Amino acid sequence: MSAPPRTTPPRTTVPPGVPGHVAIIMDGNGRWATRRGHPRWMGHVRGAHTVREVVAHCARLGVRDLTLYAFSSDNWKRPREEVGFLFDLFASHIERQLASLVANGIRFTVIGRRDRLPPTLVDAIAMAEARTAAGTQLHVRVAIDYSSRAAIARAFTEGGDGTETALLPAVDLLVRTGGERRLSDFLLWECAYAELAFLDVHFPDLATTDLDGVFSDFARRERRYGGVPAVTETTSA
Ligand code: FPP
Repeated sequence: MSAPPRTTPPRTTVPPGVPGHVAIIMDGNGRWATRRGHPRWMGHVRGAHTVREVVAHCARLGVRDLTLYAFSSDNWKRPREEVGFLFDLFASHIERQLASLVANGIRFTVIGRRDRLPPTLVDAIAMAEARTAAGTQLHVRVAIDYSSRAAIARAFTEGGDGTETALLPAVDLLVRTGGERRLSDFLLWECAYAELAFLDVHFPDLATTDLDGVFSDFARRERRYGGVPAVTETTSA
């Protein structure tokens, strides 16, 4: 039996003003495609290109954790063909990006249930997790068959199992594309003090400049966690 992969602790520091943990609800793929007269799957394919750009950009900027919502446990309600297409896309994307993830020191893991996923996808995930376990530059987590309420319930009933299905580090910045303003059962616990950014752009159209805008807005926000402003102005009578 081969030795288990070495897992190195992630970086503990991020550049000033950069959110340590960014979470993205990648919404709007279907509408992106439909508005162009394309089948919905084309939106997902374009979305996968965008994922690559987003990961590279976050790595460049010094983000420590990036969590991407790819398939919620409620997405099983979608047509079977779309669900199957998405799982095939995830598996092929993971396989195609693996060398680049390793070369760039990016750790890749998946959160959510695996028992309902096709074996080819489960195998691709396991392979990528093992091969990237030593990455320390950026930890990319992809949420597949994920429900935050289920994760929280599990954490309470099982006391946390110490794996990637347990609760995650606190989210600093949550971005949702696609124009909706809701969390859709994503990282509810971890977003307790997250700064929220809702973008009207569909995910396939999300540009690195959009991210730059959201990040510079984040850098200007004062995060008080229930405390008082760092500098209190006094007014003279
Ligand atoms: C939501 O848009 C998007 C999804 C359910 C799938 C997300 C998948 C990707 C971005 C592709 C690749 C991902 C990885 C990790 C390789 P929607 O279909 O709900 O769009 P709509 O609201 O316009 O219908």
